[in-house]
Parts: sequence; structure tokens; C-alpha cells
Amino acid sequence: MIGSETIIMGKESPKIAVLGAGVVGSTVAKILQEQVRNVDITIIADNFREETVSAVAAGIFRPSTSFRGATAEITKRWINNSWYFWQDILKSSESAQAGVISFGTYIFSKENYHNTRNHLIEDLVPIYRAVDENELKICGEGWKYGSYFNTVKIGCDNYLPWVERSFVANGGKVVQKYINSFSSLPEYDLVFNCTGLGAKYLCNDHDLVPIRGQIFKVKAPWLKTAFYGDYDTYIIPGHDGVATLGGVRQYNSYNRDVCKYDAAAIMERCVQLLPALKNAEVVAQKVGLRPHRVPVRVEREIIDRVKVVHCYGHGGYGVTCAPGTAIDAVNIGLDLLRSNSKSKL
Ligand code: BEZ
Repeated sequence: MIGSETIIMGKESPKIAVLGAGVVGSTVAKILQEQVRNVDITIIADNFREETVSAVAAGIFRPSTSFRGATAEITKRWINNSWYFWQDILKSSESAQAGVISFGTYIFSKENYHNTRNHLIEDLVPIYRAVDENELKICGEGWKYGSYFNTVKIGCDNYLPWVERSFVANGGKVVQKYINSFSSLPEYDLVFNCTGLGAKYLCNDHDLVPIRGQIFKVKAPWLKTAFYGDYDTYIIPGHDGVATLGGVRQYNSYNRDVCKYDAAAIMERCVQLLPALKNAEVVAQKVGLRPHRVPVRVEREIIDRVKVVHCYGHGGYGVTCAPGTAIDAVNIGLDLLRSNSKSKL
């Protein structure tokens, strides 16, 4: 976890840039601002709020084995720290403004028992159990395996503006600009690279690949529980009665357009899982390219004499696991500033 210590900078404020305003960049900026005083922090991004991939994601806390740090220990630390970060917000008076809610979730499978288990969070969430015979029939006949667990969901429609408001109120700056090289940032003492898929071009990172996702947003104010089925089928309740229906997971696809064939398949699978969705009003259809990398990159590098801390490649787990990685990235960044012989710390 983050130390409770607040680091007071010296007289001369270090200038820090956070590249990217999705959930990773926003969370790095939030944690950094809470950790240090007398620093000049600027978020620089070309896309904000609803234009980010984070705003497309359902944001339900259910990491999978494709979310990986350099070691199993690091992965688990990121997941645990993320869970506690969201729990702190959930228990605060700000939870609604921040878009953090909690609910029960069913996972059903006709094919594989292991699809319904999750060794990464079974020791973390308050309830994770096998379903009984009656529950196995909640979504119709034929389901062989099922689990029920409690988790949280982060709605980035709320979370991103909530972080931005408090960041700016506390003296942070926000600049809309596309950055195509670190050499264009010589005035910064430290740069956090939270550019998601943008890092593919910024860092020429061939290990970063898109996993295309497509979803529906539908009106379903009656929905209070999340449901998962086979083939990446998910139905997730949300704020203001708007649920997210998904999905697809298309490796190395760069198609940013809504595909009518994917839409038909998603709707068919979701209605089969929960027939009450049949006449739900569609509010929006969206596509997002999940920035997938193994391992997720959280490390330092000096590029063109600029001190950079990378924090990208979270795939479909950026919204939920951003905090754990952001805590490590901020610690790495502050160590880097301190290690500078001309340190302003
Ligand atoms: C998702 O995991 O729900 C998702 C993430 C990014 C784009 C689309 C869907």
C-alpha cells in the first residue's frame, strides 16, 4: 500500500507530467498529488473522459490470469492494493460521485468448472462460493457450473471527472495535447507514461497489442446483480440504471467501428442468459481497444534524457487494477526524483 507519509518537496517544485487521462493516468495523478506537496503536476492527454477506453469498459473487479505482472507476487500485490483502494472509496461519502458501487455476481458455464473460479480474488472478496441447484437455474436450463461472489464496479463516466475535479481543485493542471516523443518534454523532471495503446507508438513497443471489445449500454434499472456466461458474455449493472452488455475479445484487431455482426452475437448471448433484457432500450454501442501486454509494464527508463516511469498494458483490467500499478509507479517515480544528485526533494 501507499505509505501514509506526505512528502514535502523543497523550495523549487519539481515539474511532473502524467501522459494519459484514462483510469491509469488519472489514478497515478491522484495518488501522486496525495503523496507529495509542492510539486507541479500536469496531466497531458489527447483524449479525456468519455473518449478514453476506460469509459467503454464495464469496470467490474474480476481480474483474470491474462492480467500479469513480472511475477505472481507482483500481480497479487497489484490486485490486493487495487481492491483496498476501491474499498476505501466505496466506504466513503464520495462513493456515488466517484462511480464506485458493489453488488453480487453470478458466473455460469456449460463447459468448464474453472471458468467459474478465480484464484486471484477468492481470498479477497467478502463472498466467493459455489452456487446451489436452485441458483443454477436462475438463467435457464443447461448450466452445469456456477459461482456467486461480491465485488465492486467502477463507472469511469463518474470516476474520471471526479478525479479530474479534485486534481484541478488541488492545483493540478490539465493540458489537451498529443505527445509523440519524450524529447518534446525536456522541462519535466519526471514523466509518467500512462498512454495505454498509445505507448505502442510512443515507445515502439511491439509487445503491446489491442484486444478489441464491443459493448451495448442499455436501460435496465431493475438489474441489481451481474451475470457472466460462456464466450465472454457479461451483463453488468451500472449507475443511473444503465447496464453494460458484452462482449468480444478480439486479439490484434484495430477496428474501432461498431460491428453489426458482433452486436447481434452479443445481444443474442445476453438475452439468452437473461431474457428480461430482450426489450431493453439501447442507449449506446461502443468499441474500445484494450491495451494488452504481458507483463503489464511498470518500470523506469531514461529516454532522451527524460526520466520516465511506464505504467501501461493493463488489457481489460485497467479500470479495476489501475490503483495497484499506480501505487508502484508513483513509488518508483519518487525514488527516481530522490536519486537525482540535483534532487529538488
Ligand atoms: C471490457 O472489458 O468490458 C471492455 C474494455 C474495453 C473495451 C471494451 C470492453
